[in-house]
Amino acid sequence: MHIGTPLTPSATKVMLLGAGELGKEVIIALQRLGVEVIAVDRYDNAPGHQVAHRAHAIDMTNGNVLSRLIDSELPHLVVPEIEAIATETLLELEQAGVCRVIPTARAANLTMNREGIRRLAAETLKLPTSPYAFADSFEELQAAVDGGIGYPCVIKPVMSSSGKGQSKVDGPDGLKAAWDYANAGGRVAKGRVIVEGFVDFDYEITQLTVRAMGEDGRVQAHFCEPIGHIQVKGDYVESWQPQAMSPAALEQARAIAKAVTDDLGGLGLFGVECFVKGDRVWFSEVSPRPHDTGMVTLITQRQNEFELHARAILGLPVDAGLRNPGASAVIYGGMDAAGIRYEGVAEALAMPGTDLRLFGKPVAFERRRMGVALAEGRDTNEARAKAKQVAARVRPVR
Ligand SMILES: Nc1ncnc2c1ncn2[C@@H]1O[C@H](COP(=O)(O)OP(=O)(O)OP(=O)(O)O)[C@@H](O)[C@H]1O
Ligand SMILES: [Mg+2]
Repeated sequence: MHIGTPLTPSATKVMLLGAGELGKEVIIALQRLGVEVIAVDRYDNAPGHQVAHRAHAIDMTNGNVLSRLIDSELPHLVVPEIEAIATETLLELEQAGVCRVIPTARAANLTMNREGIRRLAAETLKLPTSPYAFADSFEELQAAVDGGIGYPCVIKPVMSSSGKGQSKVDGPDGLKAAWDYANAGGRVAKGRVIVEGFVDFDYEITQLTVRAMGEDGRVQAHFCEPIGHIQVKGDYVESWQPQAMSPAALEQARAIAKAVTDDLGGLGLFGVECFVKGDRVWFSEVSPRPHDTGMVTLITQRQNEFELHARAILGLPVDAGLRNPGASAVIYGGMDAAGIRYEGVAEALAMPGTDLRLFGKPVAFERRRMGVALAEGRDTNEARAKAKQVAARVRPVR
């Protein structure tokens, strides 16, 4: 794939579907390589809109609306940044040769629904996962739990992300509430849930894996150092890299990541989520795109996950190597308000070896991710402590 000149007939055009904080960084990486970028989100002035050549606000779950926009912009590449997209339409457009979807339309389609990716991983690829079942009613859920999943278990809508509608249930008393909560929190396919046996892991990781073109013209998998992270209510609050792992666990995590990404195919970066206990590793899920916990790579790697994605999708070589240990800590809105200000930024950045991203989201919510603090350190403990201090010094105000 050649790279042309933006805004001329030779332009290499890339359309981002989803223009949040992750999309914004991918766009910046593409802009630096002279790519013409079109950012799409469901609302105006999304973070990625602010750094793209053109911006559109549409309902991306509406296939007609989505295909009309793609027909009018005619991007060479369509890059999904979120799951809530009419992926059936992407399958059709890719099939018809209208555009290439990153990494593939099938990958976007399979991973938008927990059922698609779980069945692929556990049943087709035979990878270790938590025990699981699907249910369309409370009665089916009850039967699945009584029939073998047991307690504690985790209930999630099949279509949801960032922990929405998800809860852990410790005993029979909590099951109905979890069912009701999942029904209120799902995106579409109302009523269908996955119930998973709770994995009592020591720690969880994201194994960033890049499928990039090698010099020999063949796609090669590259592994970043594992990223450790902490999730609260299914949403990431802190991540660090590298996560120390036993050689056996690391080898298994990479074998799992290789199997899943080989099957999903295409070019680009994937975030493979795994649970680890001792030398045992379970596959949890995979994002066929940069991962929120991977924001730590903005301060740890020679090429961060967004640059890796941008390079890989353009068919360019990548370097997935670590530069130094580091950590990230999320900055939340802490309030529901539009057009907020951030105090304490100078004090935060006065700490040596730190950095910050403020995403520029037009509206803040109490638990909306508005920015991320980054820190490098001699080791991840030092970096984690610093990143949390930087995050704490930034104070959103009205
Ligand atoms: N079966 C399980 N056993 C133990 N913990 C679990 C299990 N399933 C989920 N979790 C915990 O909940 C977190 C979120 O789960 P999961 O990744 O499936 O949801 P998600 O909504 O897709 O989250 P995100 O979009 O932020 O990745 C996991 O990272 C893990 O900490
Ligand atoms: Mg997850």
